[in-house]
Amino acid sequence: MQAQQRQQQLRQQVRQQRQTLSLAQREQAGAQVAERLQALAEFQQVTMIASYASFGAELPTCTIHQQLAAPKRLALPVLHPVVAHQLLFLEITEATVWQHNRYGINEPELRCDRVIPLAQLQIMLLPLVGFDRSGQRLGMGGGYYDRTLAAWHRGELPNLLTIGLGYDFQQLEALPQQPWDVPLQLVITPSKVWDFRR
Ligand SMILES: Nc1ncnc2c1ncn2[C@@H]1O[C@H](COP(=O)(O)OP(=O)(O)O)[C@@H](O)[C@H]1O
Ligand SMILES: [Mg+2]
Repeated sequence: MQAQQRQQQLRQQVRQQRQTLSLAQREQAGAQVAERLQALAEFQQVTMIASYASFGAELPTCTIHQQLAAPKRLALPVLHPVVAHQLLFLEITEATVWQHNRYGINEPELRCDRVIPLAQLQIMLLPLVGFDRSGQRLGMGGGYYDRTLAAWHRGELPNLLTIGLGYDFQQLEALPQQPWDVPLQLVITPSKVWDFRR
C-alpha cells in the first residue's frame, strides 16, 4: 500500500476511535494533560505560549487555557489570509473577538496588531491525529503545521519548543515520513510525557 493511502487509513481509524470518547472522558484527559504540562520545567519558565482551540474530539485545551495567568501569554492560530495552508498566531486578550474559520474551527478575528511572530513563541502546543516512537506527527492531512514550522525545522527558530497533545491511543507504530514532515520534540498524553529530543 502506498504511504499516503496508509496514512489516510490511520487518520480514519484514530479519528473514529476518538469519536467514541464521551465528553467526560475527553475533559478528564484534557485535565490530566494540563497537569503534566504545568509540571514541566520548560513550561514554567516561558511566557509566550501558542496553543490551539480544540475542535471535535481533539485533546481539549480549555483547562490549559483557563489556568494560564500573567505573565504567561496565549496565542492561537488563524488560517493565514495570504499564504495558503499556513497559520498565523494571534495573541488572545479579553477583547478578542471570536469567529469560525472555513473548517468550523474557533479562531480570533484577524488583527495585525495582535500577530505574534514565530520567533517570539516559546512553546507551541499542537493538535495531532497520531504520533510514533520517534516523534513523527500525523495531522489531519492539510500540512498546516508542516508548512508553518518549516523554518523551525531548518533550525531557524531554536527558541521554540514543540509539544503535541493527544490521547494515549494516538501513539502509532512507525509512521511513513515525508521530507516536509516536521517532527515533535515532546508529546503529552494523559499517562505520559514523551521526550523525543536527543
Ligand atoms: N513545507 C511544505 N512545503 C510544501 N508543501 C508542503 C509542506 N508541508 C506539507 N506540504 C504538503 O501538504 C500536504 C499534507 O501534508 P501531510 O504531511 O500529509 O499532512 P499532515 O501533516 O497534516 O498530516 C502534503 O501533500 C504536502 O505536499
Ligand atoms: Mg505532515
